Amino acid sequence: MALFELRGLTKSFGDKHVLRGVDLTVDKGEFLTLIGPSASGKSVLLKLALGIFPSDGGSLLFEGRDITGLDEQSWIAVRRRVGILFQAGALFDSLSVFDNVAYGLREQRVLSADEIRQRVAESLTQVGLGGIEAMWPADLSGGMRKRVALARAVAMRPELLLYDEPTEGLDPINVTRVNRLLLSLRDRLEITTVVVTSNMASAFSVSDRVAFLNEGRIAAIGTPAEVAASPLPALGPFVRAAGSHVRAVHSSSRG
Ligand SMILES: Nc1ncnc2c1ncn2[C@@H]1O[C@H](COP(=O)(O)OP(=O)(O)OP(=O)(O)O)[C@@H](O)[C@H]1O
Ligand SMILES: [Mg+2]
Repeated sequence: MALFELRGLTKSFGDKHVLRGVDLTVDKGEFLTLIGPSASGKSVLLKLALGIFPSDGGSLLFEGRDITGLDEQSWIAVRRRVGILFQAGALFDSLSVFDNVAYGLREQRVLSADEIRQRVAESLTQVGLGGIEAMWPADLSGGMRKRVALARAVAMRPELLLYDEPTEGLDPINVTRVNRLLLSLRDRLEITTVVVTSNMASAFSVSDRVAFLNEGRIAAIGTPAEVAASPLPALGPFVRAAGSHVRAVHSSSRG
C-alpha cells in the first residue's frame, strides 16, 4: 500500500531546474533509499515532501489524500506523522541531550512531563545510548550526535521517517551500526523509511528499493539487484561504488 506519493514534482531556483517532474511512491513499511549525484536535488526533494518549502508544480499524497495545497495548520498535522533527520543533523548545542530529545515532544503538548521523561529514556535506549540524558552535545562523538538526533526523531513516533545522509562522516563501524539501527527501527516500530545517502554500500545492501535521482527525475527504481542491473550509463559509477554489497535477495530482513 502506498503511504506517500510524489507526482510530477517540479522545483526551480531561478533558472536552475532542480526537479523536472519527480514521480515516486513510498510503500507502507518499506525501506527506500534515494541516491543521485551531488546537487541533483535529493535534499530539496525531502524538504518538499515535508512542506518545508512549496514545489512549483506536481502533487503530494499521504495515504492517498492530496496534501499539496494544505494550509499551515493542516501541515502541522501531517508533520506529526512524518519525521525528518536533516543532513546537518543539528542538535541544539545549548541544550542537554535530554532537552534536545524532548524538544519536539514539549512543542507538541500531548505528553505530561513524566511521560516525556519516559519517552526520552526509551528513545535513547532504542538508539543504544540509554542513560546519557545529562550529557551535552559538545561532549559527544560525531556518531553519538547522529544517534541522539535519531532519538529525537524517533521520540515523536513518526510513521514515516526521512533521513538525509544519516551516515555521512561516520567511520565504517558506525555506518554499520546506524544502518542496523535504521533497519531495526523499521522492523520494530514499523517506521516507513526513506534514506538519502551517498554511501553506495549502504544503499545497495540495506534497502528494499533504491531510487536514482538524475537530471531532475527518478531515472531508475527497483530492488538493489534490479537497479544494479540497469544499463543506464549515469548509474554506472554508483553501482561500481557499491561493489560486492548489492543485495541479491529482496527484503530478507522483513519479518
Ligand atoms: N534554498 C535554495 N535556494 C537556491 N538554490 C537552492 C536552494 N536549496 C537548494 N538549492 C540548489 O538546488 C540544487 C540541489 O540541492 P540539494 O541540496 O537538494 O542537492 P543534493 O542532491 O542533496 O546534494 P548533496 O548530495 O551534495 O547533499 C543545488 O544546486 C542547490 O544549490
Ligand atoms: Mg543533500
